[in-house]
Amino acid sequence: MPEATVPAPSPARPGSTPSRAPLFLRACRREAVERTPVWIMRQAGRYLPEYQALRAKHDFLTSCRTPELACELTLQPVRRLGVDAAILFSDILIPLPGMGVPVEFRPAPVILGVVKGRADVVALRTPDAKEATPFVLDAVRLIRRELGGAVPLIGFAGAPFTMAAYLVEGGGSKSFAAWKGLLFSDPATAHLLLEKCAAVVASYLGEQVKAGAQAAMLFDTWAGILSPADFRTFALPYARRVFEAVASLGPAPEGGPPPRLYYGGETGGFLESCAEVGADVLGLDWRIGLDAARRRLGPGIALQGNLDPAVLLGPPALIRARTAAILREARSKEEGSGEGERPGSSPGHVFNLGHGILPVTPADHAQVLVDAVRELSTRSAP
Ligand code: CP3
Repeated sequence: MPEATVPAPSPARPGSTPSRAPLFLRACRREAVERTPVWIMRQAGRYLPEYQALRAKHDFLTSCRTPELACELTLQPVRRLGVDAAILFSDILIPLPGMGVPVEFRPAPVILGVVKGRADVVALRTPDAKEATPFVLDAVRLIRRELGGAVPLIGFAGAPFTMAAYLVEGGGSKSFAAWKGLLFSDPATAHLLLEKCAAVVASYLGEQVKAGAQAAMLFDTWAGILSPADFRTFALPYARRVFEAVASLGPAPEGGPPPRLYYGGETGGFLESCAEVGADVLGLDWRIGLDAARRRLGPGIALQGNLDPAVLLGPPALIRARTAAILREARSKEEGSGEGERPGSSPGHVFNLGHGILPVTPADHAQVLVDAVRELSTRSAP
């Protein structure tokens, strides 16, 4: 089914030494880049007419579980937008059925078999990803083949804390009273649940890397419901355990271990702790400036983000202006940069939204963003 005519890898700037690694991977490793790479969280989704056309014929879970469909949906935004990375089409809740917990998407996730107490946690299975979700690994292999090296493929999973939040709440929540209630009334059971989620996620993400994913991302969407101290107790150690497992897989075939990316929603209050998960790249939402984040974290970690997704609902001129502002913020600690200068690129920055693209976004506005990043971050020849 996928007739992949994905864009060829972008040529190196004339006069520059061509690098082996794709732009996105170099930026993740804080190496020199000729421009800032860009991709979009949830880049495969309802805002794309071709996504809607395919989804009209196949439901969401079938799309995730059928490698040919997952491959096609992964490639759609790469073909249309020319983004610098592909992300596996799947969901952070895909491992749940293998743990013994069925999930439905309506389209918001509904967990059937919510975890209520110790007995439920003890009953959860912790299967190996090769047995529980072989279709995901088949999808990774197929996507790599179809991409043909045009752009790298990001594999992903939910971070243990966020996965556990869904298991206990049964879906999204405003207050997370059930999950936070368990944390504070029965921490031993909460830790057992987090350990089980960490084991499942370590296998799930690790196997994606073994199958060919060139970067490994953890989504900790709900980490921001915690205080800084509770983040260190309930979220940080388990995300770190997953990344340690991924790192222990050894160097990827193309040289260098796959970069690890961590996105925590609304975590500006404890960024320094987020940086301790062992990620190469920290994803930021729009509630903190890239310049402020850089001052707090120093140069040792790459940053990804962080345009407010709602900006894409505004006119193209605003999208370009806000894109330029973020590129400038990313450069603000560099020598010679400053107000009024053209935005340019900076090592250690991957452009993205600060959260998933909204389904009501006009698809051509996503294109305005990608084109703006490419144009405004391209360094002029010296
Ligand atoms: O980025 C990509 O393009 C890859 C695909 C991807 C999906 N979900 C597909 C999806 C990724 C990376 C995710 C991650 C995910 N899923 C997260 C973490 C990132 C975040 O947004 O915070 C979370 C919290 C989920 C759980 C989830 N899955 C929710 C809350 C929803 C409903 C969202 C909605 O749009 O109503 C889903 C369903 C889902 N996952 C859809 C897609 C494309 C929509 C399903 C549909 O089209 O019917």
